[in-house]
Amino acid sequence: MSVILGIDIGGSGIKGAPVDTRTGKLAGERWRIPTPEGAAPDDVKQVVAELVAHFGLPGAVGVTFPGIVQRGRTLSAANVHPDWVGLDADALFSEATGHEVHLINDADAAGLAEARFGAGQGVQGTVMVLTFGTGIGSALIHNGVLIPNTELGHLWLRDKHAESWASDRARELDDLNWKQWSKRASTYLQHLELLFSPDLFIIGGGVSKKADKWQDHLNVERSRVVPATLLNEAGIIGAAMMAAGNAPDLEAQLDSPAPAKETTRKTAGRKPAAGKAAAKKTGKGD
Ligand code: BGC
Repeated sequence: MSVILGIDIGGSGIKGAPVDTRTGKLAGERWRIPTPEGAAPDDVKQVVAELVAHFGLPGAVGVTFPGIVQRGRTLSAANVHPDWVGLDADALFSEATGHEVHLINDADAAGLAEARFGAGQGVQGTVMVLTFGTGIGSALIHNGVLIPNTELGHLWLRDKHAESWASDRARELDDLNWKQWSKRASTYLQHLELLFSPDLFIIGGGVSKKADKWQDHLNVERSRVVPATLLNEAGIIGAAMMAAGNAPDLEAQLDSPAPAKETTRKTAGRKPAAGKAAAKKTGKGD
C-alpha cells in the first residue's frame, strides 16, 4: 500500500497528513498541533502520538526532525531542546504510538520530496536543496540518491555558521531587505557551488513562498537556481516517502557496519501495511 502518514516537526507547529507515496500528493487533510513550548522530546512525543491516533492509518510513520538523524538517533539540536542529543527517537516514538516510526532530518525529507515530485523532478546529476528558515537545512541528492545529514547550514562562513548569517531568521534579526539578504545567500550558494558543483539548487523553507522577492537577485556561476514547489508540504511528503521505503533505504546503508542484531531489527517490517482505512480518508489536501 502506498498511503503513509508523514509528520513534520517544525518550530511552531507539528503537522501531519496521509501521503500517497506513488504520486507525492497528500491523500487527506493536513492536521496541525502547535509545537509544545521548549520542544522537549517527551512533549513532542505526545503530540506525535496524538497525530498518529487522529489519522488512524495502519503501517509505518515517517517523522522529520530539525537535526542530525542517524540509525534512528537524533544527534544534534541546533534549534531544539538539548535533550534530543543522543536519543533513540525511533524507539521512543515507536513505543509511544504503537507504530513503526522512522525519523529523518527535515531538510533531507524536503530534499527527497522536491527531487522526486517537486522542482527537481526529472533532473539528472547533483541536486542540492537548501531550506532557509530558522536555520539552513541542506539535502544533497545525486541521480535520485540522497546523501543524508549534510548539515551545510553549519558551514563556516564569514567567521560564523552560515545559518546564523544567511538564514531567513538572520534576515529578520539583521533587518535586511530582500536584496541585502540575496547578497548573503549568493555568497553562500557560490561557496557551495565551488565545493559541490550542483546542477540544480532548489531554494526551500519559508523563503520559497516569496521567490518573487529574491529570484532576480541570487547569482551563482554555473548552477541553475529555482524555488521549491512543494512549499510547506515537502517535509511531510519526504518523511512518508522514507517510511514507505520508496526513498533510498538510508538505514540499510547506514546499518551495514553495525552489529548484526541491530541490522535485523532495523530492516524488519519496513514494508508499510496501510489498509482500506487509508484509502477512505482520501480527500483534498490544503
Ligand atoms: C540543523 C539541521 C536542520 C536545519 C533546518 C539546522 O540548524 O542543524 O539539521 O536541517 O537547521 O531545520
